[in-house]
Amino acid sequence: MTTTDRTRQEILDLSRATTLYEWTAQKTMNPLVIDRAQGIYLWDVDGKRYMDFNSQLMCVNIGHGDQRVIDAITAQLQRVAYVAPTAATTAVRAELGDVLRRITPGNLTKSFFTNGGAEANENAIKIARWYTGRHKIMARYRSYHGATAGAISLTGEPRRWAAEPGIPGVVRIPDFYPYRAGKTLDDPEYTASVLAATEEIIQLEGPHTIAAIMIESVVGTNGILIPSAAYMRGIRALCDRYGILMIADEVMSGFGRTGRWFAVDHWGVVPDMMSVAKGLTSAYVPLGALIVSEPIAAFFEDRPLFAGLTYNAHAVGCAAALATIRVYEEDGLIEQAARLGEVLHVEMARIKERHPSVGDARSIGLFAVFELVKDRATREPLTPFNPKPNELGPMPAFNAFLRQHGVFTLVRWNTFFVNPPLCITEEQLLEGLAVMDRALDIVDQAIA
Ligand SMILES: Cc1ncc(COP(=O)(O)O)c(C=O)c1O
Repeated sequence: MTTTDRTRQEILDLSRATTLYEWTAQKTMNPLVIDRAQGIYLWDVDGKRYMDFNSQLMCVNIGHGDQRVIDAITAQLQRVAYVAPTAATTAVRAELGDVLRRITPGNLTKSFFTNGGAEANENAIKIARWYTGRHKIMARYRSYHGATAGAISLTGEPRRWAAEPGIPGVVRIPDFYPYRAGKTLDDPEYTASVLAATEEIIQLEGPHTIAAIMIESVVGTNGILIPSAAYMRGIRALCDRYGILMIADEVMSGFGRTGRWFAVDHWGVVPDMMSVAKGLTSAYVPLGALIVSEPIAAFFEDRPLFAGLTYNAHAVGCAAALATIRVYEEDGLIEQAARLGEVLHVEMARIKERHPSVGDARSIGLFAVFELVKDRATREPLTPFNPKPNELGPMPAFNAFLRQHGVFTLVRWNTFFVNPPLCITEEQLLEGLAVMDRALDIVDQAIA
């Protein structure tokens, strides 16, 4: 029996009986049972269609089912699926390294290929420590960097708690979150105060002990927190002043999501290392990469790079990434994300006007969030921080409305996201937003 011969309930029951779901109490799981997908659409096994307004986990950037990527993967499988990563190399590995060198900013020149984002960050920690001879890594509270030991220790949000005490040497620096501070994005005093607090922590910790600062260029799951140009440049300047490496986590914000190849491109900031995954292959198969600057690459010319995974530089992953990057370029998807990002920005502002429960609507390219509040004047969040299931107020009903009307997205605490595949059309974007607009009436009524 193939899976598609089974009913929705049979698949749910069997997957619940035999597999463990991520980040959740098993009993509460009620996933969609997806049969197939194309472009921005998903179909469940009963034939119900959903618009994918989160690109699954903010990763299917080119959209589902692109034949060009499927063909490239198939051709690579037929040629050679896998070679041992140090003993052998392939054309796709070489060509992907070359393409990434071309599209990444500044002197980011060499890629270390991994299976995903967490492993890229894990290797960034190791490399930063070897290269600087220092051990501390700074990161922020409102961040997610992955689920492996080092990456989850750098992660600041509650998913870290179960992994504590974690790796030693992690130090927190302040978040950049103007809305919660009652400020605007471009308030120079707010930026200056966050940078001053960061510098004070550097001094108190001892700059000679700090290897790196790791930040998401735009914070993803923890609320699409968009930095000011002055903040990003200020972090780069602090790193330069104290000999600290800047690591940009672009696992979610990279590959066109913000309307540029990488979010750092908006501010002309070049990190010393950049981690990528997700949009690199648009999740057709797993692949991540840590891309390092020329001096860091040179450091390993005559020292062994003590890092590696069986599946490093997997040929099928490299072929998928090359084909995916060609799709971004052939279809002009980076430019499309920038153009539709303007449409999204305007429409989100309109929706905010109509709904008192919307405290803030933030977006950059097709990377967007609505933050919901009980009271716009006080900015009191609609749910508590890290709410229990019974503290979610109207959010489950809000999400149920979206699902019922064929829109899939991430609804987290008092936020919900608009991160569709970059191939979405303006008409499709407005159609999905119209459903969200109607669903917000449910939240408005709850706070009235
Ligand atoms: C910003 C960021 N970094 C790292 C990761 C971890 O990537 P992965 O799940 O591929 O290991 C994620 C995953 O969501 C992420 O959003």
